[in-house]
Amino acid sequence: MNILKRRGWEISESHVTSESLFFNRRQVVAGLATLPLIGSAKAAVNAKFADAGRPVTDELQNTTYNNFYEYGTSKSISDAAQALVTKPWSITIDGLVDAPLTLQFEDLLKKMPVEDRIYRHRCVEAWAMVVPWTGFALKDLIGMAKPKAEAKYVRFETFNDPKMAPGQEPGLFSSFPWPYVEGLTVAEAMNDLSFIATGAYGKDLPKSMGAPLRLHTPWKYGFKSIKSIVKISFVAEQPMNFWQAIQSSEYGFWANVNPEVSHPRWSQATEEVLGTGERVPSVIYNGYGEFVADLYKGMEEEKIFF
Ligand code: MTE
Repeated sequence: MNILKRRGWEISESHVTSESLFFNRRQVVAGLATLPLIGSAKAAVNAKFADAGRPVTDELQNTTYNNFYEYGTSKSISDAAQALVTKPWSITIDGLVDAPLTLQFEDLLKKMPVEDRIYRHRCVEAWAMVVPWTGFALKDLIGMAKPKAEAKYVRFETFNDPKMAPGQEPGLFSSFPWPYVEGLTVAEAMNDLSFIATGAYGKDLPKSMGAPLRLHTPWKYGFKSIKSIVKISFVAEQPMNFWQAIQSSEYGFWANVNPEVSHPRWSQATEEVLGTGERVPSVIYNGYGEFVADLYKGMEEEKIFF
């Protein structure tokens, strides 16, 4: 399918997997004899997110062209990221919640309804790809944590361990405010689209892509999609994210995709589709407006595209 011929990227009826195909896929998945993987096991495709409107990016391309500053500032960090130790991995949920908890990644997964989704990913640097994820809706995890009414934001934190991430070593990038932190409003986090990925391409999440679990909010620039999460905190104040702390004149809290709002140093009008050599027009909310535009009603004064 050629994305250049499509308008808006909204998934048309003809592109949504039919119910019968959906259930057939479920049967195929259920019928698989052995599923040795953890983060990618027993998933069926969510029919709402079965087609991203452009082809899935080549797996090798996707797993070897990354932003993961804990392992360096280039895109070629996949070898260095093999130093990431993902077993054991515990996740803490704390802050303004009725049910704070710390649990092992595998135990968290057992509690979550795992599914597959195909999402477009748009980096603030104006490149894009399509990722076939496995994981669970962030709202399901939030339901388990039972946030209090005072909780207005969700703050996510990546590990901070210079022993397994050379980028975090004091001195190397000592001005970087480790650990990597990101934030969403509780309403954004509860949106259908907010996804915790635990697998990609039918396998456990590669280390370069943020194993064992990372966020993906496909209507926002990619820096919001924090990798290798160890802590999720419910807070009253808007969290300061990693890139905001480094350069607040260039990166904001909201970071919703908008081709008409340029980055201070480059245009956001178009994006390079990785692996195709094509440059295509970018789309507001990365084409996911039907799911998220309502979140921002009445916020015209806020810099929601920055
Ligand atoms: N998460 C952490 N912990 N560290 C990072 O450097 N980079 C962000 C985001 N999450 C980053 C991160 C940016 S800028 C982007 S575009 C995406 O991860 C890239 O995800 P990918 O490498 O899977 O394409």
